[in-house]
Amino acid sequence: MSNTYWQEELETLPRRQLEELQVKKLRDSIARALISPYYGKLYGELGITPDTIQCVEDIRKLPFTVKDDLRSSYPYGMLTCPKDDIVRMHCTSGTTGNPAAVLYTRHDLASWANLLARSMYAVGTRPSDIFQNMSGYGLFTGGLGFQNGAEALGCMTIPAAAGNSIRQIKLMRDFGTTCAHSVPSYLGRLHAVFVENGLDPRKDTQLKRLFIGAEPHSEETRLRIEELFGAKAYNSFGMTEMNGPGVAFECVCQKGMHLWEDCYLLEIIDPETLEPLPDGEVGEMVLTTLDREAMPILRYRTRDLTRIIPEPCPCGRTHRRIDRIKGRSDDMFIIKGCNVFPIQIERILMQVPEVGSDYLITLDSNAEGDTMLVQAELQPTMFTDDYKQLEALRKRIALKLKDEILVTPAIQLVPPGSLPRSDGKAKRVVDNRKN
Ligand code: COA
Ligand code: AMP
Ligand code: ZN
Repeated sequence: MSNTYWQEELETLPRRQLEELQVKKLRDSIARALISPYYGKLYGELGITPDTIQCVEDIRKLPFTVKDDLRSSYPYGMLTCPKDDIVRMHCTSGTTGNPAAVLYTRHDLASWANLLARSMYAVGTRPSDIFQNMSGYGLFTGGLGFQNGAEALGCMTIPAAAGNSIRQIKLMRDFGTTCAHSVPSYLGRLHAVFVENGLDPRKDTQLKRLFIGAEPHSEETRLRIEELFGAKAYNSFGMTEMNGPGVAFECVCQKGMHLWEDCYLLEIIDPETLEPLPDGEVGEMVLTTLDREAMPILRYRTRDLTRIIPEPCPCGRTHRRIDRIKGRSDDMFIIKGCNVFPIQIERILMQVPEVGSDYLITLDSNAEGDTMLVQAELQPTMFTDDYKQLEALRKRIALKLKDEILVTPAIQLVPPGSLPRSDGKAKRVVDNRKN
């Protein structure tokens, strides 16, 4: 192992060889996918076999896979191996109904952990580091994903999980945490708690590196976090459908995230025409897993908008970089690291008989993170100025929403007809966050 790379040969593989490896792994992935009920039927009808692929561009002969395909084949419709070989599942929110679930064999978990170890190693993390994971555990991939990656690298790992800032700080100080993973929007809150307790993370911790991801953020946010914590902050991209974090990660150059192309095939398409876009142009990222046993996913429309950075990276890695995520081609938004589709909120509100048909979601940010306000119009017959009754209803709605979207929004119940409308069409989300 060299000083810079976790897997030098793979990370610096000349592009031609990297593409040859991708073609081989893509053919293997198609062979594997054909075993699953979903791809078996679809590819069977379209006559797609491993021989369909002779070069990387041939990926365009495959149809796209979308989140609804995962949801409709939930729970086992994309499985390619006996159930006995599965050792884990994770899932992520869908619009309504079933979530999108991903299944992993031992190989899949090891391959995923290796990519995270590779990513963290690339920015100087070593077995001597003490790593604190402030991500949600459970079904979120940021918990166990980073845990296994840091353990594969050899770090002592503190599975602190999300929340409880006082305890985060205590663990950090008592055990001498040197690197940590968090969604960027939480770090403002964490810093405020340091200050409230008369502490300065720059002096009172040994933090050197922060891995920030799972939600969009700007370069300015990163610089602010680096300043507040006196540590380097590296952008980390991933999504449950593609394992979780560890799909793309910044190197020490901090100019875009290397997408690990020995394990994922990267395309950027125009989300309207679905045609490929040249390197450098912003479009929707489409990803194909190349190293997954239990559940290969081919040509997955991520809905994330980004571009390929065409220039080679000075760090010497040949895997292309993607720019920070610039938005989505659907209406999903992320708050406190949780993905939310407005339709999920609508569905819950419409189950409450007192609520009318109009609602508005307002997202804001302040120094301590993001806030979410849901204003719901009440039915004309239900509007009352009985404070106690309204308060009970507000609490009931907040609890139901928390169950669905995993964060607790502020709720405001407003009189019928009071929410703004434009062109007669109700506006559902106002995002005032500056990230
Ligand atoms: N990560 C870590 N902690 C967070 C957080 C986040 N994204 N957002 C809020 N918190 C902290 C809050 O600061 C608070 O702790 P504190 O008062 O000790 O400082 C505690 O969690 C509860 O926050 P609150 O905003 O009151 O609760 P909520 O009901 O809205 O739910 C979480 C918040 C944290 C439970 C929920 O948003 C969550 O699980 N987020 C993590 C998502 C994640 O890890 N995503 C990565 C996927 S790869
Ligand atoms: P999940 O499957 O819950 O982990 O959510 C995946 C989604 O989170 C992605 O599709 C992106 O929209 C978003 N995401 C993950 N990492 C980043 C990042 N570094 N920057 C911006 N958005 C991100
Ligand atoms: Zn680099």
